Amino acid sequence: MKKVFRNSLRVLGIIILLAVIAGLGGYWYINSTFLSFEKSYAENIDIKELTIDGYTFLDRDGDGKLDIYEDHRKSTYERVENVLHQMTLEEKIHLLKGSGIASAMGIGNTAVPGAVGTIVPTPRLGIPTIYLSDGPAGLRIQPKREGEDRTYYCTAFPIGTLLSSTWNTELVNVVGTAMGNEALEYGIDVILGPGANIHRHPFCGRNFEYYSEDPVLTGFIGAAMVNGIESQGIGTSVKHFVANNQEIDRNFNDVIVSDRAMREIYLKGFEIIVKKSQPWTIMSSYNKVNGIYVSESKDLLTNILRDDWNFEGLVMTDWFGGNNAPAQIAAGNDLLEPGTKKQWKALKKAANNGTLSEEEINTSVRRILKLIIQSKKMQNYQYGNNPNLEAHAKIARQSATEGMILLKNEHALPIQNAKNIALLGVTSYDFIAGGTGSGDVNEAYTVSLEEGLKNAGFEINQAAKKLFKTHKAKHKEEFIKPEGFSAMTNPYIPPRMTYTESELKEIVASSDLGIITIGRNSGEGGDRVEKDDFLLSKTEQNMMANVCKAFHTAGKKVVVVMNIGGVIETVSWKSKPDAILLAWQGGQEGGNSVADILSGKVNPSGKLPMTFPVNLNDHASNTNFPLEGGTMDIMKMMFASRKEKPENEKVKNKDYTNYEEGIYVGYRHFDTAELDVSYPFGFGLSYTTFNLSNLNVTVQNDTIKVTVTVTNSGSLAGKEVLQVYTSKPDTKIDRPLKELRTFTKTKSLKPDEATTVSFQIPISELSYWSEEASQWSLEKGFYSIQVGASSRDIRLSMDVEIN
Ligand code: BGC
Repeated sequence: MKKVFRNSLRVLGIIILLAVIAGLGGYWYINSTFLSFEKSYAENIDIKELTIDGYTFLDRDGDGKLDIYEDHRKSTYERVENVLHQMTLEEKIHLLKGSGIASAMGIGNTAVPGAVGTIVPTPRLGIPTIYLSDGPAGLRIQPKREGEDRTYYCTAFPIGTLLSSTWNTELVNVVGTAMGNEALEYGIDVILGPGANIHRHPFCGRNFEYYSEDPVLTGFIGAAMVNGIESQGIGTSVKHFVANNQEIDRNFNDVIVSDRAMREIYLKGFEIIVKKSQPWTIMSSYNKVNGIYVSESKDLLTNILRDDWNFEGLVMTDWFGGNNAPAQIAAGNDLLEPGTKKQWKALKKAANNGTLSEEEINTSVRRILKLIIQSKKMQNYQYGNNPNLEAHAKIARQSATEGMILLKNEHALPIQNAKNIALLGVTSYDFIAGGTGSGDVNEAYTVSLEEGLKNAGFEINQAAKKLFKTHKAKHKEEFIKPEGFSAMTNPYIPPRMTYTESELKEIVASSDLGIITIGRNSGEGGDRVEKDDFLLSKTEQNMMANVCKAFHTAGKKVVVVMNIGGVIETVSWKSKPDAILLAWQGGQEGGNSVADILSGKVNPSGKLPMTFPVNLNDHASNTNFPLEGGTMDIMKMMFASRKEKPENEKVKNKDYTNYEEGIYVGYRHFDTAELDVSYPFGFGLSYTTFNLSNLNVTVQNDTIKVTVTVTNSGSLAGKEVLQVYTSKPDTKIDRPLKELRTFTKTKSLKPDEATTVSFQIPISELSYWSEEASQWSLEKGFYSIQVGASSRDIRLSMDVEIN
């Protein structure tokens, strides 16, 4: 017996010892590969000044002389060449990858805890560290730092989808300027955004970060954002280039897609952004396109991006993206983020054995140096860590208000003669500011709908509020918001509630109006599903039916507020309430923005950047999308083999996704196939009405010139979006019924006020991508130029002949 006991102890001892060794080994591996492998490359912060001819310079390399690269009077080109020629091959290779993920985790020597990546310093030459941080809805850094009382909160601006719903490029530029300024004042040099992927299918978990199902809207809004951010001397990284339209298995997924769909749909938005704003950087996506990782594709990163479009910036990988570091550099992916020791070793090995030439290395190093030289860090900008958060909150509120879309209004809004408002549904009290993952922001507060309405002077119905409180107390655990890393991967969705008949009786009797909020949340690493997400859950259906019935029986109105990040089903329930406001996720001021619209302080002017379909499978992409959902496996993302699976082991919609629908994405499909939709692309109501007149279209040289007059024909001031589509009725090729070419938003027009707006469409924009010729091709003949208020509401049109 004793012997058995002794043997068991021995076995247990061995197991514990092995576990400790494995733990230590694992820690050592993670530390030396991902966290701390930069030992001899600590930033040189002891840099002295030099004064020459009355000018002060930084003597970055400490040699007592003014080098060309230290002289800010010289051109960027001269300074870059000068640094490059002073760098050793080792230093150059070192620059091609970041310093690991430590900064993102707030570990070690980082000036900005939570910055998710860096461009490494070159200490011998006094070249500084460049900090990179997410993302599309505002900066994401750690709000608290060890040993400090103060906080470093950032402004949560509205999500990308809401910004594109404004159709207001000037306003988006203002948002970008504020975001860029916040980065500048917090010591961040490059913002990892905006996101420019196309909403191919409503379930992509990151659609909220992206703008639209249409590449022109995506491109115009994206360029405005880039120009705004970069006006502050801060770089952007437009992502995720390209065709990263699902989160499930995004690191391995092979997108099988035609060249035409790539050029006309998936690349087009990026192309417009590059041509209109020349961003400092672009982020290559995780996925493959037609068998090749994007980050290793010379065709995409060099032939198309640089040679066809003249992109002048650098390309960085998405975090831990791709497989073969030397192949990435050779393809034109200049910077590997966040950088691992394994990549560093692989690059050195490839340089030594000649598989990666010094010329290839120099090409990427030049692009990285150009960014560093342009940066405010290199200008020694002293950031104060005190951005004007109050001013930025006002911009967040204004932009959120302008991107909210009124979908239905049967004499319910703006609210009149209602004082006491009953808020129904959990999200009314617990508003969702934005989605999760790297697109999340650490903001100081989120204004709920309850607070917003109170701020606007309404009374909140206490009977309804009490029920919410009881519900919350009963489900304490589920109301705890995940924090830190857990918040990134677990979208916070508090349990929903419903109401009994007698509860509703009391609520209706004591209130003047009911507002139901439908909330949804999703984010990076997971895609959405049909049940309880795209479709209303059973609880929500009951709530909708019972609340509407109870209020209507008493002759009172019900408004639905959709606090969501992506499209949901609406046909089955939209007849029940009197008004529907699509509020999206409006950032930290969301509740105030909704109140601005409900109260009539602001007249809604948002328009849909995508179609709301009748049925999910009306989407042509629905047969080729991972509909079962799921979440990202971080271990698999970082450690799984990137070896190509045998064909017969590949799983559809995971290992590969066939974009069989080609160019027929969104309204291009719905309108061409003449399918009924719930709400069409470009749709959105106002509290006033607009009349379009005097359409004039002429062709001058290589441009189509369009002018049209818009008059506010209603009784309240408001803004209108004018959308210009083109159509080729007698086309000889397979092409969409109509395509958006340009748009604009008017200033606020008073009742009876008219304005004439003009557009210029380069004729080349009417081209389609010819697969036979492998180039853009223009069909001659008549085109119909159509101006409307949605893709299904064309008000005026005129034919022009293109010869
Ligand atoms: C995301 C990127 C993000 C990066 C850094 C990745 O997982 O896909 O969008 O910029 O992480 O946080």
